[in-house]
Amino acid sequence: MKLENKVAIVTGATSGMGRATAVLFAREGAKVVVVGRNEARAKAVVDQIKEEGFEAMYVLGDASDLAFCDELVAKTVEAYGTVDILVNNAGMLSLSSVTAVTMEEWDKIFRVNVDSALRLCQLVAPIMKEKGKGVIVNVASVASFAAHHGFAPYISSKHAMAGLSKSMAWELGPEIRVNAIAPGLIHTAMVDGLGGPAALQGMIDNCPVKRCGQPEDIATVALFLATDDSSFIDGQVIKVDGGFEC
Ligand SMILES: NC(=O)c1ccc[n+]([C@@H]2O[C@H](COP(=O)([O-])OP(=O)(O)OC[C@H]3O[C@@H](n4cnc5c(N)ncnc54)[C@H](OP(=O)(O)O)[C@@H]3O)[C@@H](O)[C@H]2O)c1
Repeated sequence: MKLENKVAIVTGATSGMGRATAVLFAREGAKVVVVGRNEARAKAVVDQIKEEGFEAMYVLGDASDLAFCDELVAKTVEAYGTVDILVNNAGMLSLSSVTAVTMEEWDKIFRVNVDSALRLCQLVAPIMKEKGKGVIVNVASVASFAAHHGFAPYISSKHAMAGLSKSMAWELGPEIRVNAIAPGLIHTAMVDGLGGPAALQGMIDNCPVKRCGQPEDIATVALFLATDDSSFIDGQVIKVDGGFEC
């Protein structure tokens, strides 16, 4: 197993690619802390992991609430003693445009998509530094590289996530490696909210692989980035998009 004796926090693990990552990390031996706001879904993920004979717990809360971030790391250390891996995956979509977005929505998107990652990084970095080792995986997006009409707050937040990931790598190394994954179209609840794969067929047609990604396509890359298999990869924003942006 690739993550034996490791403790991993995965935010946004009650659904989609965060859930797939939490389950895969647990199967690889990590003790996993499942983070989200929906208790039924959080419990379902932890129950699945435990039924398979692996270890996990959930901590419920809003990752954009900085006090909750403090509580999350404290509860993780209390239960499992340390933090080795942090996956900043919690995120929300906004369809607003530059001219329509309110400052309240702009602020909310940034608090969920960026501020939570910064705060959790600030909290786990001293633990990882003291151990001499740690890994942070941030979930950015193909929207970290390019813009489209609409989605301005989301696109801006994901560009920020890319810059934050590179800054983290520079400032937290050599003990802590930090990389970001930039998913393309992945079939999750977020995409279902846009009408699902059928409604997004045009994007699928533009991918050389001619399919929508699945949450497991991201989880396997997160696992690679969390292990020493990727020990010479740092500060990268890695597209996992079926070739959409190639
Ligand atoms: N799907 C795509 O095509 C795609 C493409 C590029 C990037 N991404 C990014 O991938 C990440 C995961 O998205 P997904 O597609 O897997 O979506 P998803 O299935 O909707 O999952 C989103 C997760 O984030 C959690 N979450 C949202 N706001 C939160 C908050 N304030 N505090 C704590 N947890 C919160 C949700 O949990 P609760 O509801 O339990 O709080 C849920 O577990 C996001 O950062 C997203 O921007 C997605």
